[in-house]
Amino acid sequence: MWNDNGALDKASALIRDGALVGIPTETVYGLGANAYNAHSCLEIFKAKGRPADNPLIVHIAVPSDADKIAYTNDLYYKLAERFMPGPLTIILPKRDIIPSEATAGLDSVAIRCPVHEVARQIIERSGVPIAAPSANKSGRPSPTSARHVYNDMNGIIPLIIDAGPCDVGVESTVIKISEDSIIVLRPGAITAEMLREVCDNVTISSAVTEELKEGEVALSPGMKYKHYAPASELYLVDGNEDEFEKIVKEKAKKEKCAVICYEEELTKFEGIPTLSAGKRDDIKEQTKRLFELLRRCDELGVDTVYAHLPSKDGQALAMYNRMIRACAHRVIGGKNG
Ligand code: TXA
Ligand code: MG
Repeated sequence: MWNDNGALDKASALIRDGALVGIPTETVYGLGANAYNAHSCLEIFKAKGRPADNPLIVHIAVPSDADKIAYTNDLYYKLAERFMPGPLTIILPKRDIIPSEATAGLDSVAIRCPVHEVARQIIERSGVPIAAPSANKSGRPSPTSARHVYNDMNGIIPLIIDAGPCDVGVESTVIKISEDSIIVLRPGAITAEMLREVCDNVTISSAVTEELKEGEVALSPGMKYKHYAPASELYLVDGNEDEFEKIVKEKAKKEKCAVICYEEELTKFEGIPTLSAGKRDDIKEQTKRLFELLRRCDELGVDTVYAHLPSKDGQALAMYNRMIRACAHRVIGGKNG
């Protein structure tokens, strides 16, 4: 286990005193600041180039700390008992102690209690809740290693804590709750099926899989922004592995393209830059690698990248959601032409 006490104390002191620090969590690296400090929260928006209407997640050390910053209910504690600490973010009505700069003016606050020991230690030692979005520049894939944070934030923040690659690899599941219902606003490692073990009434926001219609208001502001996009154009291919191979090889005759394929397919694409998504049936590993692969696409110097369209089932929905936005809904093959 990573345990550099000096670094943890330094990170905690910097945060308490108003600075921004890159911190590891089990999902992705975060850009942490004292959530009680309105000025520090505004600095987060500046450092990321984040749209002013996109609220931050506030991280707490133990689930009961939520009562200091929000109005909790029974369902919150049922969910906390089952899924916290862990990759779940719950939106609740906020208390006044959280500045509106943290929530982009909303009267609700998103709360998460990370399970990563380093994150937990930093929150506890700083003695304040920590506002932390993903530590990428806005629009870039979320960082899943300290190197990614360095690439985006070098020269902008005074400290990044390196605790190795993130376990989950995509951001937490974001849910909005009432007394007896849950809406999934962003899918993650905690799936709708898992949430149904605690609450009968779980729905998934249409913004998770569909493009917002013109004039439609996003329940979660982050959902309306184009995200995770590599510099090259990403296309998702709907079809089996034979169809995938055929389409990619056809494209490669006319385009400077790369391919993201399953490990089992690696030998098929001679002459085409090829990245391994992980083993065909290993959704966890594929999820863990996703953002690293999207960042690597930029280093290949290609115009287009082709990858399999993920399924929308269970754990795969989080990957589907990130990839469909990374490709701006460009799906080819199957019924899509
Ligand atoms: O795993 C994670 O959640 C990571 C790590 C660092 O904890 N954080 C993260 O934060 O992904 P960020 O800022 O990149 O994404 C926060 C998402 C955005 O889509 C935002 O719109 C939504 O949560 N959100 C935050 N507060 C909200 C609120 N009060 N109402 C609705 N959506 C909210
Ligand atoms: Mg983010």
